[in-house]
Amino acid sequence: MPVVEIKNLNKSFGSTHVLRGIDFTVEQGEVVCVIGPSGSGKSTLLRCVNLLEVPQEGQVFVRGEEITDPDCHLDAARSQIGMVFQQFNLFPHLNVLANCTVAQTTVLKRKADEAEKIARSNLERVGLHDKITAYPAQLSGGQQQRVAIARALSMDPTLMLFDEPTSALDPELVGEVLTVMRKLALDGMTMLVVTHEMAFAREVADRVVFMDAGVIVEQGTPDEVIGNPQQERTKTFLRRVLDPTHVETTG
Ligand SMILES: Nc1ncnc2c1ncn2[C@@H]1O[C@H](COP(=O)(O)OP(=O)(O)O)[C@@H](O)[C@H]1O
Ligand SMILES: [Mg+2]
Repeated sequence: MPVVEIKNLNKSFGSTHVLRGIDFTVEQGEVVCVIGPSGSGKSTLLRCVNLLEVPQEGQVFVRGEEITDPDCHLDAARSQIGMVFQQFNLFPHLNVLANCTVAQTTVLKRKADEAEKIARSNLERVGLHDKITAYPAQLSGGQQQRVAIARALSMDPTLMLFDEPTSALDPELVGEVLTVMRKLALDGMTMLVVTHEMAFAREVADRVVFMDAGVIVEQGTPDEVIGNPQQERTKTFLRRVLDPTHVETTG
């Protein structure tokens, strides 16, 4: 059974038709990277997977359970899905450890000492065991994003969603976050990652999905999609991303 199965997903904001009939699955243990131009619907697709956005049409299944069914127990389904955003969204008034325990005790009803033990082990996993009493404002962007990853992992997710997790970081801090994500992938975590980091996608992804204007234009292995794209739109996008200083001549 796939971890995520999406059928004929359609989402509009007012008269803007953002997702146009997306069909898509993510298998257990798979790392899928979604690439595509700004505004193509990547974030909206991710947000539909945990129903942060409600689609007008189509179905989303998480481990076989239809979360788009109005009778679905949405909180239970959502608690299996970890999400890491471009903006880290840590609680500024809580220290690192508390950021990683609060949802465990409130949502999963874990006891404080158990939650703390789990948080400590995940902070260790992201290399931040020495920062547990720090507050977010005392950390670099890369450290904050690693806390956000540890926080998501502390909920024992079946699936991790990443929406451009390194886009808000200074260039020299990108590597430490990608290193943590690479390790997670090697540990067998099922991951759906929106990213512009082509080297990461090429190395870590099992599958790359190229989206443009609300549709999946092409998908396949990184070697196929990034190394040898078939569609003109994919080629144009990759030229821009891989050589951003290239000036296109028009007319
Ligand atoms: N909450 C919203 N309300 C109105 N329009 C939105 C909203 N979220 C996204 N959009 C529009 O949907 C399109 C796709 O957005 P998005 O999914 O964020 O694209 P991407 O992540 O690929 O850059 C854009 O045109 C964007 O302006
Ligand atoms: Mg986006």
